[in-house]
Amino acid sequence: MSGSVIAAIDQGTTSTRCLLFDHDGRMLAVAQREHHHTYPRPGWVQHDADEIWRIVEKIVPNALRDADASLDDVAALGIANQRETTVVWDPHTGRTLAPAITWQDTRTDSIVEQIEAAGHVNLFRELAGLHPSAYFSGPRLRWLLDNVPRLEERARTGRAMFGTMESWLVWKLTGGPDGGVHVTDVTNASRTMMMNLRTLEWDQRLLDVLDIPEQMLPEIRPNSQVYGRCSAVLPGVRIGGAIGDQQAALFGQTCFASGEAKCTYGTGAFLLVNTGDRIIDSSDGLIPTVAYVDGDGGARYALEGSIAMTGSLVQWLRDALEMIPSAPQIETLARTVDDNGGCYIVPAFSGLFAPRWRPDARGVIVGLTSYVEKGHLARAVLEATGWQTWEVVEAIKASHISLRSLRVDGGMTANHLLMQFIADVLDVPVERPLVSETVSLGAAYVAGLAVGYWADLAVLRRNWHRAALWRPAMDPTHRAGEAHNWNEAVTRTLGWGT
Ligand code: G3P
Repeated sequence: MSGSVIAAIDQGTTSTRCLLFDHDGRMLAVAQREHHHTYPRPGWVQHDADEIWRIVEKIVPNALRDADASLDDVAALGIANQRETTVVWDPHTGRTLAPAITWQDTRTDSIVEQIEAAGHVNLFRELAGLHPSAYFSGPRLRWLLDNVPRLEERARTGRAMFGTMESWLVWKLTGGPDGGVHVTDVTNASRTMMMNLRTLEWDQRLLDVLDIPEQMLPEIRPNSQVYGRCSAVLPGVRIGGAIGDQQAALFGQTCFASGEAKCTYGTGAFLLVNTGDRIIDSSDGLIPTVAYVDGDGGARYALEGSIAMTGSLVQWLRDALEMIPSAPQIETLARTVDDNGGCYIVPAFSGLFAPRWRPDARGVIVGLTSYVEKGHLARAVLEATGWQTWEVVEAIKASHISLRSLRVDGGMTANHLLMQFIADVLDVPVERPLVSETVSLGAAYVAGLAVGYWADLAVLRRNWHRAALWRPAMDPTHRAGEAHNWNEAVTRTLGWGT
């Protein structure tokens, strides 16, 4: 039936996926392919954006085939993406000019140190809302301009473009060198250290500090707006918007009201709470960010806590320690004992992210006695995810926002023991929706709203159905004791990495 589905591309850190959704937000098809990572030096993590484009060319037709859908059935396309990953390309050849530097890459630490030493921290905090960090894309662009031969000269003469992944894909989809649209969306732009969080425009004062030529930057657009029509992959289909993947999950979870929050549990975890039209300048280690701009409406903001290591700690137990044959079996092992046996694991393998932001931290296991066995270690691994979530929620509370519940998604939410533990330590109900593909659903929603496929946010809310609920059941005194032990364990991680 003509215009009966919305397509979404989720360009993530490990893979790129294409999903199709119907009017009720039900997933009709999914096609997925992983891309390569390269690690040329310690701390460097790169992707090949040309490879990712070729993957998009393959998976979108595969998803259509799986759903028995034709081009005519697609009402619009939405894009969600790994944020902060930085791409530069030649507008004339349509090819990239360097490997994409990913959000996990720490090569720009020294650029950030220079920004700090020059006394610019407050400028970035006031204008971009961000404490300068190697996490964001602006310093990566500066690094590329300094290190890719002739890139600076190209950029100043209109022969190099910059974008994050959604920007690259929109440009390629809309024709590339033949009239491609060079845009980014507000959520991705809010992670560059170059956008003013209030005006939602590039800020010349920030561009001056980073010394970025403005002509290479994309135009900043709302999330939900027709950017153009595809000329490749889905010819004629309108691109109805783009949104950073964690904001997409917030949108897909329909957390539209202030105080509503979601946490996506993957390799790491990202907790975002909607703060309405307020930018909360968190001095407690959280990142104020744009949640979404719907059409021509005003911006909605969020406060974000990013946790570096959650699912990847389970993978470490599986691959490095070979204690479990597969990740889901951690629950079986953890259920062989009643508690953590006094053992705590803090997974600061490459430092601690929110709310502590300690690059010098390294992982610890504390509380070992002869009593501790594999099951206790499995519990401690899962509990580490719970306590790291708790730390983020405590920081949110310090900003005078209280959560009534937490919506969760991502692979680890299949683990009932962990979800119950999270409800217990947060002391709020934790709920998981029926459609767990919230990132792609969020991308589909912004695009569908732009073309009138969905009328408004209220319709989207009615599409959210709860599949599972975990109610808090931990004794408060016990919780306080365990929180104290966790905090003690965290203090042991600090100062190892320098
Ligand atoms: O900020 C990085 C984040 O957007 C990456 O998410 O799910 O692609 O690992 P993911």
